[in-house]
Amino acid sequence: MAKNSRREFLQKAAAGTAAFLAYPSAKVLGANDRIRLGIIGPGSRGQELLKQLKGLPGAELVAAADVYPSRFDEARRILPGFQSYDDHRRLLDRKDLDGVIVASPLHLHARHFVDTLAAGKDLYAEKTMTWSIPEAEQCLDAARKSDRIVQIGLQHESSGHFRDARQWVKDGLVGKVTQVDSWMGRNTPHGQGQWVRPVPADCTAQRVGWKAFLNGRPDAGFDGYKFINWRLYWMFSGGNITENMIHQMAWIMSVLDLPLPSAAYMSGGVFSEKDGREVPDTIAVTLDFPHDLVVTWQSTFSNSRFGLGQRILGSDGTIEYVAGANDMVSGESGEVTRYDPEEVNRPKGTAIKGTAAGENHLANWMACMRSRKTPNAPVELGYRSAVAAHMANLSYRQKRRVTLEEAKAYKPEY
Ligand SMILES: NC(=O)c1ccc[n+]([C@@H]2O[C@H](COP(=O)([O-])OP(=O)(O)OC[C@H]3O[C@@H](n4cnc5c(N)ncnc54)[C@H](O)[C@@H]3O)[C@@H](O)[C@H]2O)c1
Repeated sequence: MAKNSRREFLQKAAAGTAAFLAYPSAKVLGANDRIRLGIIGPGSRGQELLKQLKGLPGAELVAAADVYPSRFDEARRILPGFQSYDDHRRLLDRKDLDGVIVASPLHLHARHFVDTLAAGKDLYAEKTMTWSIPEAEQCLDAARKSDRIVQIGLQHESSGHFRDARQWVKDGLVGKVTQVDSWMGRNTPHGQGQWVRPVPADCTAQRVGWKAFLNGRPDAGFDGYKFINWRLYWMFSGGNITENMIHQMAWIMSVLDLPLPSAAYMSGGVFSEKDGREVPDTIAVTLDFPHDLVVTWQSTFSNSRFGLGQRILGSDGTIEYVAGANDMVSGESGEVTRYDPEEVNRPKGTAIKGTAAGENHLANWMACMRSRKTPNAPVELGYRSAVAAHMANLSYRQKRRVTLEEAKAYKPEY
């Protein structure tokens, strides 16, 4: 973040903390106190987080809210003993909750985010922070006015490869960076689209809280396919940009301490499987950042050979993080973080392999709930990465280059 905007951010944050006094105060957690947690939306990702929670000492899941009751049975197979709610507001009414995990679909994030903070709970909010830029502004504002701990589910911020890369940048090993390349590729059997999930027989209009799922979107009648496969539709999702680019873009933005992009261009389309989805499966994004930097991200759902990665191309050296790519020679895939000096500017420099240990992202949140320190993926990073993601999608949908000012002025429609 530029110095001025950082100062502004801190001033606003300080003003926000004063405003928070209106919020109910939560109890102070001692080092040995159990942390009582609730979850909103224990679906696929939520259950993954519950599995992680199971291994974390001091965590206790006491409540879960969902509009599809089968999720409670699934979640109880991981962590039994919680109280279930069909309305997230009833879960938030509980006075004995210290923190809430939000793992609902994207178009519900802002609502669950704001409601959780208003109820005075600490928050772990899955990425992407919000479905739109106005919602991102709203959530940032709510977090600034609150003294609650907010961790965004950008778990790579707690990884060893993030720590290594950040340290190498701080140590001045990369020099001037004018370009960052990043990519992600996946594949599926022919005829089977990426992400498509079968609709369970019990996912019916009688059992699902469809109106609560819609969250104000126009109602064309219950649609089990859309309820389960919400990721494929703009009304609920931002597609692969908000599902995957967000992780890599947040990583790049925080490793290099970048402000908001100044402009975005995105091309692509639904090319891999024409299965009725709206969001593109083939993508090329270019984000321009202030101070002479271009960041690109490419993605396909028709080829997985190169896995995912990001390369920070500096005048004095390169930082490379690659995961799941098939090695050209051995055919094996793995995860590598490395630094290589540019001989022209660092003739005596040596290559370095990343070795830093990471930590569990939920554990970091819980540690911050006790210490009241800022967690590894704070709301401000959630905001910047969400704006970058929405700028890219807006450019794709409007088929033109979009500036930050244009994206901020845009009022999204369903
Ligand atoms: N951090 C990561 O690596 C990661 C990985 C996968 C998914 N995610 C994110 O997690 C979120 C959920 O994804 P998913 O694949 O688990 O989706 P999902 O559809 O499997 O789960 C969403 C859950 O929310 C419930 N739900 C819907 N409307 C609700 C409402 N009004 N109130 C309460 N619950 C409601 C659904 O019934 C479902 O159980 C998305 O934002 C996604 O981007 C993050």
